[in-house]
Amino acid sequence: MKSDELFALLRRRGVLWPSAEIYGGAQGLYDYGPLGAALKRRVEEAWVAWFPGLSHDYYVIEPAEILPEAVVRASGHLENFTDPEITCEQCHASFRAETVLEKVRPEGVDGLSPTQIAEIVSARQVRCPNCGSAALSVPRSFNLMFGMDFGVTGKERAYLRPETAQGSYLSFARMWDVGRRALPLGIAVVGKAYRNEIAPRQLLFRMRAFTQAELQIFFDPATFPVPFDSVRDERLPVLRVARRSAGEESPELVSAGDLAASGGLPEFYVFHLVHSFRFFRDVLRYPADRIRLFEKSDAERAFYNRIQFDIEVRLESLGGFKELGAVHYRGDYDLRRHSEGSGRDLSVTLSAGTKVLPHVLELTFGVDRNVWALADVHLVKDGERTIWRLPPYLAPVPVGVFPLMAKEHAAYALRLSDDLESQGISNRYDEAGAIGRRYARMDEVGTPFCITVDGRTLEEGPDRDTVTLRDRDTRSQERLRVTDLVARLRPALVAPRPRRA
Ligand code: GAP
Repeated sequence: MKSDELFALLRRRGVLWPSAEIYGGAQGLYDYGPLGAALKRRVEEAWVAWFPGLSHDYYVIEPAEILPEAVVRASGHLENFTDPEITCEQCHASFRAETVLEKVRPEGVDGLSPTQIAEIVSARQVRCPNCGSAALSVPRSFNLMFGMDFGVTGKERAYLRPETAQGSYLSFARMWDVGRRALPLGIAVVGKAYRNEIAPRQLLFRMRAFTQAELQIFFDPATFPVPFDSVRDERLPVLRVARRSAGEESPELVSAGDLAASGGLPEFYVFHLVHSFRFFRDVLRYPADRIRLFEKSDAERAFYNRIQFDIEVRLESLGGFKELGAVHYRGDYDLRRHSEGSGRDLSVTLSAGTKVLPHVLELTFGVDRNVWALADVHLVKDGERTIWRLPPYLAPVPVGVFPLMAKEHAAYALRLSDDLESQGISNRYDEAGAIGRRYARMDEVGTPFCITVDGRTLEEGPDRDTVTLRDRDTRSQERLRVTDLVARLRPALVAPRPRRA
């Protein structure tokens, strides 16, 4: 499906829509409706089960969203969190330089200075993508953070956090004190990040307020033991810098063992790259041949990173591979900068008596982008029908409960719906229209299981009564005892977890 068609469908179904729609919409802001909010929450829960689930020493916290200026000065965001911006002097539209140069430099402008970008604009006689004028401004570095006055004096500045990661760095010292005082220590945050994107576009891909799920793993650079044998044979679809330089865009399958042994990557890094890949393939169930692990070069990497692979998925709606998450090795950048900025030494003393400034491995994930990708990948047309083949544990409404005939079977079906709800099986009761139409409605919103109460249910009597359970994907129906329903449904509605290291 093309992006406009997919967005129109999601809007019609009440999954999401532009924020402040009655005022014409606010660029880069979206609201989630009941189905979208439930899907997003389930994606977040699946992420928490998987990533913080990697170790007993990984925790989820909820830090503040507003950062005092001293924090973003130390973190480097005040100076470096910029995008080159170009304005058209004719029509006054503003663009990211990357967009203006899209046709002449498809590889992007990461690492180029404003002067280098200006040279390309002039040499290639680039024109405004909006009105075609050649009157383009000199590029300027535009800081993407939302700043604000903090407090009543108007003298203090603060910023909405541009990444959730900063809250974990600021909390490291406290978490060390209240925790086991051992490394590795993981601190995860799931929450909003805010960026004043120059040109929000591609819907949930360039938003001004969006949700990130990020795990920061603090570790001793001398030793970060991981059970590498458990992942050694996993083959990863990687696109490394050298292969890209040779003009290749498709990934090649390389085993985790080879990536570490001859590929020059540390085992701890490859181990977490495997677990991130598995989350996309096994939990979100994106087909493996649509996933690419894209290595960023020195010039392209974020300013704090030493190693960066973006996790990309090929999306039909957006016409190619799109970044949905990443694995960042940030070295000692963050704790060093916050030690200098705050004056508080953030190094720790390990049980053996050695003092270390922990390094950080960051596993980052864009929740909204993945909500979109789950629609792109799993929403399929089957003849006249639309089916959202979401993994059952991500379905906004996991179960539908129907009376075959409203008049005769409603009382029983309503009671069953309540019973299931009180046992943790979230469901929707529906008695409107023919049963086939009700199945179709549930298929469209991704409901994997539908239960129907019929005449036989009532005849069978207490404890022996049965219902039909219909499977969305196979459309098969089985007759099941009501007393067996919860045991049958629950395992399918729990998101997978990794084995803890
Ligand atoms: N802490 C590292 C960090 O923030 P990033 O690549 O800038 O790294 C991480 O962002 C993830 O957040 C991305 O992989 C992407 O999924 C998501 N993301 C970034 N900018 C976004 C935007 N404007 N709208 C929606 N999602 C975004």
